[in-house]
Amino acid sequence: MIPVFKPDLGKEELDEIRKVFASNWIGLGPKTREFEEQFAKYIGTKFAVGTNSATAALHLAVAAHGIDSGEVIVPAVTFVSTAHAAVYCNAKPILCDVDKETLCMDADDLQRKITKNTKAIIPVHLGGHPCDMDAINDIAEDKNLIVIEDAANATGALYKGKKIGSLADSACFSFHAVKNMTTGEGGMITTDDEDLVKKLYRLRWVGINKDTWNRAYVSAKYSWYYEVTELGWKYHMNDIPAAIGVAQLKKVDRLNEARRKIVERYNAAFSRLGWLSVPYEAKNVKHAYWLYILRVNDPSDRDKIIKHLADRSIATSVHFMPVHLQPYYRDFYIRNKIKVSVPVADVEWKKMVTLPLYPSMTDSEVKQVVDGVSSFRK
Ligand SMILES: Cc1ncc(COP(=O)(O)O)c(C=O)c1O
Repeated sequence: MIPVFKPDLGKEELDEIRKVFASNWIGLGPKTREFEEQFAKYIGTKFAVGTNSATAALHLAVAAHGIDSGEVIVPAVTFVSTAHAAVYCNAKPILCDVDKETLCMDADDLQRKITKNTKAIIPVHLGGHPCDMDAINDIAEDKNLIVIEDAANATGALYKGKKIGSLADSACFSFHAVKNMTTGEGGMITTDDEDLVKKLYRLRWVGINKDTWNRAYVSAKYSWYYEVTELGWKYHMNDIPAAIGVAQLKKVDRLNEARRKIVERYNAAFSRLGWLSVPYEAKNVKHAYWLYILRVNDPSDRDKIIKHLADRSIATSVHFMPVHLQPYYRDFYIRNKIKVSVPVADVEWKKMVTLPLYPSMTDSEVKQVVDGVSSFRK
């Protein structure tokens, strides 16, 4: 079976892990700091704060921005963690429709969804395609709202020449097993705001004002004394995933280029087929292509092509079923008497199929997928 995803791990990652083992410090420590510094430099922000997932990063970011009630606007087509981040902080995720071409947050609908209770906006760079950040930031500035980029799918993507992750108040990345770069599980928050970073350091470490590494090695002498100044969570990164991250970060641009080459081959083959559309890439962006989302014109073809490809040993997926169709959120919106109106998302998600895409895909695997898709309507 050709999988949808495959991580790209090797000697470089093992070499970095070995260094951490030899140091005898595997918790949150110097390797995490090194990874954070390198990641911030790569994205072009002053700071980066490592976490154990993007779900944790999103929760921490919403909490650290001081949101504990009201509404947070998120796109309807996303992984549930984007919406969960609002609910964790006692705020309501209000669903915004997506743009028909990019499948990212639609700025016109965003404008319509803002109320006096809106506190923040979390745009999602779906599958690696950057959102229209200028339009979103203009609206946010006008209404004095916080913007947190959900960059879980978009390490390495560019918007008007700038890295995704450097375009809002803060941004959250995922290093889950099959993302553009991985640490097994892991996440990162990028920002230029030093006060926010200080708060994030405490919140990711159960609310303690100094982590163990700082007390043991960074301060002049070890001090057992610390204070819990607020309610935090156990969300920090540790030095083993950070070691993998240091090695992966060196490769991520190359891995993304390998993804793009496969996308070009898919697009060249599929553009000839009249019954589907290939992923859109706006002129002023660089897509990170975590996902290759093909859309069939006729939604009734979607499950048929998934079966057709499975019969040819090709795995596929759907990213993502809209948030309000998940049972938890169906009940949530009924319970809270919130009317969800996202007509584009409701239609488009039914056409979406994610095809296999990973940097080490062989020519024959790519050909197998091209032949599999091309033979569907023959
Ligand atoms: C858009 C989006 N946000 C958040 C997440 C959560 O990432 P993690 O698995 O690192 O918690 C994902 C994971 O796929 C995602 O796609």
